[in-house]
Amino acid sequence: MPTTVIVGAQWGDEGKGKVTDLLAERAEVTVRFQGGNNAGHTIIHGDEVFKLNLIPSGILHPGNTCIIGNGVVLDPGVLIGELDDLHKRGVDTTSLRISANAHIIMPYHLLLDHEGEAKLGELKIGTTKRGIGPCYADKADRLGIRVQDLLDEKILRKKIVTALEPKRQQLRPWAKDPSLDLHAMVEEFANYGHRLEPHIAETSLIVHNEIKAGKEVVFEGAQGALLDIDHGTYPFVTSSNPIAGAACVGAGIGPTLIDDVWGIAKAYTTRVGSGPFPSEIEGDIADKIREVGAEFGTTTGRARRIGWLDLVALKYAARLNGMTGLCVTKLDVLSGIETLRVATTYSNNEGAVFDEFPYHQSVLHHSKAEYVDLPGWDEDISSARSIEDLPENCRTYLNFISEFLDVPIVLMGVGPERTQIILAGDRALSFARN
Ligand code: GDP
Ligand code: IMO
Ligand code: MG
Repeated sequence: MPTTVIVGAQWGDEGKGKVTDLLAERAEVTVRFQGGNNAGHTIIHGDEVFKLNLIPSGILHPGNTCIIGNGVVLDPGVLIGELDDLHKRGVDTTSLRISANAHIIMPYHLLLDHEGEAKLGELKIGTTKRGIGPCYADKADRLGIRVQDLLDEKILRKKIVTALEPKRQQLRPWAKDPSLDLHAMVEEFANYGHRLEPHIAETSLIVHNEIKAGKEVVFEGAQGALLDIDHGTYPFVTSSNPIAGAACVGAGIGPTLIDDVWGIAKAYTTRVGSGPFPSEIEGDIADKIREVGAEFGTTTGRARRIGWLDLVALKYAARLNGMTGLCVTKLDVLSGIETLRVATTYSNNEGAVFDEFPYHQSVLHHSKAEYVDLPGWDEDISSARSIEDLPENCRTYLNFISEFLDVPIVLMGVGPERTQIILAGDRALSFARN
C-alpha cells in the first residue's frame, strides 16, 4: 500500500486539509510532521466545518490512527482545546498518538514571538504569533521542553529554569506576567502531561511498523514550500521545513519508505504575512477572488494577499518536493474572469529575465512576474465531477500548468465541500468515492 506525502506548493492554505481528509478515508495512518498551530486546515462536510490546527486531518475517519510526529511544535493547551472540541462534536480522538520527542510551545515562546515582531516594526514577518519561531529556536539551541518532559515535574522545572536563564534580559518587560510564574507554569504543564499521557508514544516505531505491515499512510504537511526556512522567501518564512523531505525527519522514517508526493496548489496564488510575492495583484479582480474564495486566514482571520498563478514558484516547489502529482484546488473561484494570467518568468527593472526562482533575496525582492494570458471561462463548475464536465478553457488552463511543470494533475478542487473534487490518473482514481 502506498505512502503519500501531502505538501503545500505555494505559501500555505492551498487545501492540504481537504486532500488529506480524502486520502485518510482509505488510509490507516495520518501523520503531521512539522509546524504547529500556525497551521489551520479546513474540512467541510455538509453543514459541518472543521478547522484543525494540530490534529491530523485524518481524525474524522474512525479507525484512522492520527499521529503528531517529533517534528511538530506543540502547544498543549491548544491541542487539549482541539481534542475537547472534537469530542463535543462526536469525533472519537482515542487514536491520537503524540511523539514523546515533539517540542512544547511554552508561554515565553508566545511572548518572544510578539516581542520579535514588535521590534521589527515595518520589517515584521507577519507571523501567526503562536510562538512557533522561538520554540524551534530553543529546539536548535538544545533548550527545548519536549512532550516527555511533561511527565516528570522535577525534570520539567529544571528544564524550564535552564531555558529561561538566557532569555531573562529579553523577558524583563514581562517579569510580572502571571504566565511566567515558575511554580504556576510547572503545575500547568505537568497537568497537560497527565491529560496527554495516554496519547504519548514512540510514534516513529508505530509509523514504521504500519508501513512495513503494508498499511496506507498519509503524511500531512503544514505551510508551503515558499515558507520553507531553507528554500522559501527567507526571512519571510516559517521556522520549519514544510517540504516533502521533512516528512522523513519529522515522522522518524527513512526516505525509501515514501512512494508519492502530492503538491497542493490553488489555481491562483495567495500569501498571508509579509514578504515578496512577484505575481501579487490588487484591485477588482483581487477583491473578487478574495471574496469568492473566502481568502481570510483560518488561524488568524487576516485577509490573504492575492496573485495570479505563479508557475515559476510552482516549478521550484515541484522540484524541491520531487512531486509525483499536483492537486489544483479552488478552480471554481476563477469562473467568470475573462482572461487568466499565468506567470511563466520573472523580470527586473534592469531587463534581466529569470525562468528559475531567484535564490538571491535582493533579486527576488525586485522581481516582477511576466505572464502568458489564457482565456477564462464563465460556467459555474462547482458540480463538475469529471474532467469532461469542465469547460474547454478550463481544461486548457490545467493542461498548460501540467505541461509547464511536467507533473501530472491528480486532483482538482471545484468547491470547498469534501465531495467537490475531480480525480485523474490511476492512483487518484482509486480514491473515488462510490
Ligand atoms: P490548508 O491550510 O492547506 O489546509 O488550507 P486552508 O483550510 O487554510 O484553506 C483552504 C480554504 O479553501 C478552506 O477554507 C477550504 O474549505 C477551501 N477550499 C479547499 N478546496 C477548495 C476548492 O476546491 N474550492 C473552494 N472554493 N474552496 C476550497
Ligand atoms: P497552513 O498549514 C499560511 C506564515 C505566516 C507568516 C510566516 C511565519 O494552514 O497552510 P509563523 O507563525 O509560522 O512563524 O509565521 O508563515 N504561515 C502560514 N501562512 N498558511 C499556514 O499554514 C501558515 N503558517 C505560517 O503568516 O507569514
Ligand atoms: Mg491553512
